Amino acid sequence: MDATIDVLVREVGPRDGLQNIATVVPTDTKLGWIRAEFGAGVREIEVASFVPPRLIPQFADADSVVEQALRIDGLTVVALVPNLRGAERALALGVHKLDYVVSVSRTHNLKNVRREREASLQDFERIVQARDAAGLKGRTVLAAGLSTALGCSYEGRIAVDEVRRCASFLAEAGAEELMIADTVGYADPRQVREVFQAVRAEVGELPLAAHFHDTRGTGLANVVAALDCGIRRFDASLGGLGGCPFAPGASGNIVMEDLVFMLDSMGLRTGVDIGALLAVREFPASALGADSLAGAIAKAGLPRHYLDAAQRAALESSPERPAGATGH
Ligand code: COA
Ligand code: ZN
Repeated sequence: MDATIDVLVREVGPRDGLQNIATVVPTDTKLGWIRAEFGAGVREIEVASFVPPRLIPQFADADSVVEQALRIDGLTVVALVPNLRGAERALALGVHKLDYVVSVSRTHNLKNVRREREASLQDFERIVQARDAAGLKGRTVLAAGLSTALGCSYEGRIAVDEVRRCASFLAEAGAEELMIADTVGYADPRQVREVFQAVRAEVGELPLAAHFHDTRGTGLANVVAALDCGIRRFDASLGGLGGCPFAPGASGNIVMEDLVFMLDSMGLRTGVDIGALLAVREFPASALGADSLAGAIAKAGLPRHYLDAAQRAALESSPERPAGATGH
């Protein structure tokens, strides 16, 4: 991870945020959003999903979005893939990172990708082979996401052992990063600690990322719990857009603006300019309406005395530092 940041915040809005929305956002609006958010300092964005366009028309432009996003120098372009066919499409374009999803919940896996969980796990081995055969090892990172790892709206509680087993399989098959997802927003901080510690014990130093939905108001509390476990990569979506179309009751991801505000306030550098980030909301708002976006900071504004982490650092190194000035 870049030494100038403490926490990597990853925008998933153009994928997770839009997959459940019937209004098709124009390609140019998606790209305007992606470029503006990169401009605000976000360095990793999940820009599209390689699913059949018939199934999710929102991603009929996935090729075009990925191709153009790859021209943004310095951006890590991530795409979600649900199967080998999706991975082949993403590899053909040379994405920087594939996010392959498997649900720990067997029922959700069947509903989401229409196959048994074990079949999905085995497909990941084929994806690793396809990536390597294409000569893309070292170029395309293979990340695997464990959906419904913290609860499922079909099955309810998910056993930690099941999460551990899936994580272990994917790590051994060649995953270079694992993402643990609370797809339907069931998790609480105690559970987050339990699951992340169990997975960490299973997979050693493999990078772990957290993907939380704020469906029941526990999203940022879960981030703090994951931070306590040493997690430094978090998915979020601008305006809290998001939700799986194949998981009943799913709703938005944690709000990117609120996540950045909280991390900044805690003195953790994200590299993101919060003022510029707030301005990015105009892109999804222009297509979906401002009412479709959530966000506490967008609504309440920044605290009067607020300085972001970079401003605080500059102030602290300044010889004319005013007495008592602090970002907190
Ligand atoms: N991209 C484009 N086309 C694809 C594809 C992909 N990733 N995967 C399959 N297809 C095509 C096949 O080529 C086939 O086309 P044809 O009818 O012209 O021959 C058709 O889609 C059906 O293929 P099949 O393998 O039988 O797919 P399926 O109907 O069993 O559906 C998935 C499986 C995985 C493609 C589908 O369930 C899916 O896309 N799920 C993703 C759900 C999602 O995005 N959830 C939210 C994110 S977690
Ligand atoms: Zn999600």
